[in-house]
Amino acid sequence: MENTFPTVVQQTCSWSKVMLMMQNHQGFWNHQDFHEGSLLAQQTFNAKPSDIFICSSPKTGTTWLKALAFAIITRQQFNQSTSPLLTTVPHECIPYLEKDLEQIKQNQNNTSFPLVSTHLPYTLLPNSIIASNCKIVYIYRNIKDVIVSYYNFVRKAFNIPLEDAPFEEAFNEFYQGISWYGPYWDHILGYWKASQERADGQILFLKYEDMKSDITSNVKRLAEFIGHPFSIQEERAGVIDDIIKLCSFENLSNLEVNKSGKHRPDTPVAIENRHYFRKAKDGDWKKYFTDEMVVKIDELVDEKLSGTGLVL
Ligand code: A3P
Repeated sequence: MENTFPTVVQQTCSWSKVMLMMQNHQGFWNHQDFHEGSLLAQQTFNAKPSDIFICSSPKTGTTWLKALAFAIITRQQFNQSTSPLLTTVPHECIPYLEKDLEQIKQNQNNTSFPLVSTHLPYTLLPNSIIASNCKIVYIYRNIKDVIVSYYNFVRKAFNIPLEDAPFEEAFNEFYQGISWYGPYWDHILGYWKASQERADGQILFLKYEDMKSDITSNVKRLAEFIGHPFSIQEERAGVIDDIIKLCSFENLSNLEVNKSGKHRPDTPVAIENRHYFRKAKDGDWKKYFTDEMVVKIDELVDEKLSGTGLVL
């Protein structure tokens, strides 16, 4: 893979230059560093029916969902003080389809660990995932908070000074659909349509805001869906609460590994783990959006998602 990421950090200090590194492939945008991995996965990955996919657009709560799914599936192996989540960023606990094909193949052959994550849109998933009827968990989030989260993440990941990254510019790009794996609304629509058209119940939709307002029911839904439901005894013993606490923003963001560690260190796409944990607040967009932006994005969402019943 071409070593472009550090070059960008050193030489580029404006939002628009970073955005120039975006490519469109079959209707979806991506940063060029992830483009090749997406193509390779599409062309070569062979899913097994037992594989379970954690799917999302960036900045919708992927880190949280990965931590929860991992903690649920490994709860017989690890307890609150031995979980790898205490020493490893959740992104390294679950392999990523666009970057970790070898590890996924090894998991498929040697272990019973079924989780794989991806940001690929539904229409760009490798065919074998659909043909094998693999389970898919999809998370989405309020579009305005996603825009703000994305803006801050890209700015920090690429070291772009605030004065070189006006929010208005970032908003306009996102509004035109130009974001990692965007347009965001088409990403959601792809999974939504598939969940409606497929009668097999193999796609679970979760919403970040719903998880925040009722985490217990959503963790139970997740556990049931991925085939690891909690027993009554576990519920009584507080296992669900323990998992919720372990995976909470407060806990994960304060762990040393997530304050000072790096994800994929010494690679072109190294990211400091702390960038995955910002505020985790609903409605932070209010500090960034003008009235005009609110109208524009609300109209766009009405138009794009009308008839779905989805609320963004
Ligand atoms: P903010 O930027 O609004 O704070 P992703 O994991 O898809 O990249 O999404 C990142 C967003 O999820 C960030 O939102 C981040 O703070 C938030 N987040 C990370 N870990 C979380 C957790 N354990 N619980 C809730 N939100 C979390």
